[in-house]
Amino acid sequence: MSVSMADIMAVVHRHAPRNFQPRFGMILGSGLSSLADQMTQVVSIPYQAIPGIQTGSVSGHASLLQMGYLNDIPVVCLRGRLHLYEGVAYEPIATLVRIVRNLGCHCFIVTGAAGSLREEVGPGELMMINDHINFQPGNPLVGANDESIGPRFLAMEDAYDHNLREIMIACAERLHIPLQQGVYISTLGPSFETPAEIRAFRMWGADAVGMSCVPEVILARHAGMRVACVAAITNLAAGMQHEKISHTGTLQYGEIAARKLIKLLPEFLKDANESGLAS
Ligand code: HPA
Repeated sequence: MSVSMADIMAVVHRHAPRNFQPRFGMILGSGLSSLADQMTQVVSIPYQAIPGIQTGSVSGHASLLQMGYLNDIPVVCLRGRLHLYEGVAYEPIATLVRIVRNLGCHCFIVTGAAGSLREEVGPGELMMINDHINFQPGNPLVGANDESIGPRFLAMEDAYDHNLREIMIACAERLHIPLQQGVYISTLGPSFETPAEIRAFRMWGADAVGMSCVPEVILARHAGMRVACVAAITNLAAGMQHEKISHTGTLQYGEIAARKLIKLLPEFLKDANESGLAS
């Protein structure tokens, strides 16, 4: 039996700090969870305490909804994500994104690990995503559409908010953090790609490949939030590096990229907040 959003929000509000009005939502992918350690006055809700949501099964993913402050800005952080390859349906992924919107966020920051399809962008680098190719099965908006959330047919030309991108580029320059830009292609996983698939994806115009991000971006746009997305490059994609790709490598290089994100994101939040885009 599916649970109503009102029941879900009742649980979230029961835990939320008084008068908490978050500006930004964030989702942290593999190896990037440490970013949430920067938050202050944190209240955590384990995913399994939220009706209809389960704990993620992937190591490096904490499965906590956290409310607190990053650089003194109120944020909601989805610390750890649910992936289609875990056998999870789109519904709980949609619920998590919609909780963020219902708490009042106007901007959603998506992060995730990815392989690079560009030789010059190696492990440990950050790539800001400016467009995507949805190569995962289905679409999280399939099914009855709730018009109170968003439109039946969602335009995707401006999925990655132009203004937020400009702000992120300016912050990265100021902090001397190299920030690449590119197109993300989503795969179902959990197997990594074959070298032949990677060659095909390059011809399609992809710069990074990963097993997440796209469902959340579509859902956040559907709910009317502006989106910014940064991929932590953890490896060169299949066939482009000598070593075999592994989840351990993902976590190790995710950690290096996370250190850059820990510097970049708080500054970005401050500037994006001051720009008025989050209210
Ligand atoms: N492919 C898919 N997902 C990934 C990769 C990759 O090479 N690296 C990190 N996540």
